[in-house]
Amino acid sequence: MYRILEFLRQEKGFISGEEIGRKLDISRAAVWKGIKKLREEGYVIEAVTNKGYRLILHDTMYNENEIAQGLVAKRLGRPVYFFKETDTTNSRLRDIAAGGAPEGAIAVAEQMTAGRGRRGRHWEAPAGSGIWMSILLRPNIFPSQASVLTLLAGLAVCQGIEEETGLTPSIKWPNDIMLNGKKLVGILTEMECEMQQTHFVIVGIGINVNTTEFPEGLMDVATSLYLESGRTFSRKNILQRVLLNFEKLYLELLESHCSFAPFLDRYKEKCATIHQDVKVLGKETFFAQAVDITPDGELVVIRKDNGKKEVVFSGEVSIRGGKTSE
Ligand code: BTN
Repeated sequence: MYRILEFLRQEKGFISGEEIGRKLDISRAAVWKGIKKLREEGYVIEAVTNKGYRLILHDTMYNENEIAQGLVAKRLGRPVYFFKETDTTNSRLRDIAAGGAPEGAIAVAEQMTAGRGRRGRHWEAPAGSGIWMSILLRPNIFPSQASVLTLLAGLAVCQGIEEETGLTPSIKWPNDIMLNGKKLVGILTEMECEMQQTHFVIVGIGINVNTTEFPEGLMDVATSLYLESGRTFSRKNILQRVLLNFEKLYLELLESHCSFAPFLDRYKEKCATIHQDVKVLGKETFFAQAVDITPDGELVVIRKDNGKKEVVFSGEVSIRGGKTSE
């Protein structure tokens, strides 16, 4: 069926069933069956008597074949596991990884019924509106270094969205991606490891692309590329750009022995948290002003209550006076 799609894709005008059949060495009935299946998958294929078939619309198509098609990234996105509906791509990919899938494998869902966010929260992932993707990495790093991957994923997502849409999201430390003060992207990194050894890491990325509305309670804090620009975008194109950017950063990270330092300036350029008033929610909750990011990717803050400098390792920071998902 996908070989027929290839022909239709290459052909700008009509191509007859007979010609497709001849080239693929299959009967006209088999061509017709393939066309029917492609239509069932959502491809819009025009059929005109005495002319043949013509592919009308494929950019909005979203499946493993479309995602793999034209993917420039060499390592990430190979192979693609696509689910029309699944509970959560992070868990699906964990099972696939446990079965020995190679680094770079991705799980993508049209819809997730039990999408996971950080801190056990639910992630809204309806069909047709967003990119719900998990990426499998097998870096030779200590478990304590894995948070760098999350920071780089945030940077890659910002770069990919900017290249594809011209919109300029920013990072809320450590890895929420914001647009006009609302959350556009969430990242959930999970790993399988022992004390000193990382077996694999799964970076789960959720991007609200063409979402037109959110459930009650989220409308004030969440947004989509569509809601901010009034335009719809190809999920496939954005996904491919994100993978390419993440791959470049990831390879650079491996070369730098997993040091975040070479990425610090790029990350800071995109990070909107610096100079903001923040609420630090850790073992202790306190108010502070964010002043810097360390070469290890931690947030440096000055406490409001005693003026002391502190480094925030992980946990959550909410921006005061701005909208946040926390
Ligand atoms: C957050 O900000 O709370 C993190 C949200 C992460 C959502 C993504 S969508 C793909 C992957 N699969 C999941 O179940 N969650 C992550």
